Amino acid sequence: MAEDLSIITGSKADQYQSILPQIKGLLDGEPDLIANLANTVAALKEQFGWLWIGFYIVKNNELVLGPFQGPVACTRIRKGKGVCGSSWAEVKTLIVPDVEKFPGHIACSSLSRSEIVIPVIRNGQVVAVLDVDSVDLNQFNSTDQNFLEQIVELIPF
Ligand code: SME
Repeated sequence: MAEDLSIITGSKADQYQSILPQIKGLLDGEPDLIANLANTVAALKEQFGWLWIGFYIVKNNELVLGPFQGPVACTRIRKGKGVCGSSWAEVKTLIVPDVEKFPGHIACSSLSRSEIVIPVIRNGQVVAVLDVDSVDLNQFNSTDQNFLEQIVELIPF
């Protein structure tokens, strides 16, 4: 396994095209879930430099904080609450251009201005969500959705 990532500049799609095979390499042959979630968020944080990226894992009908990169965060989120709990309840990716305009947004960091949450679906059930926060308004679009949905599919939950 490569120990150093190659970090590039370029368009958002270029950056995803570069980091995606590297994440595949990091996951290759490793069955441990926490190790895989940890390296996935570390690789994405290094490439994109977002404020916060992390997984919340469904445990006993709650989202519980998993591996992340960034400031300390809320540990538990109920179904239907905040952006993460809404993505879980609605079983779909949510893009929030301005967190202040999302009713019920949970502000773990006052620096977060926009957010994307991708549900991780296995056998029709949401088993986790991937949450990404940016200090910039309107940071996330369908390019992020497309690539991040591909990336969470790679992880053997
Ligand atoms: N903003 C999220 C909570 C998690 S933190 O951003 C890390 C939400 O509204 O669900």
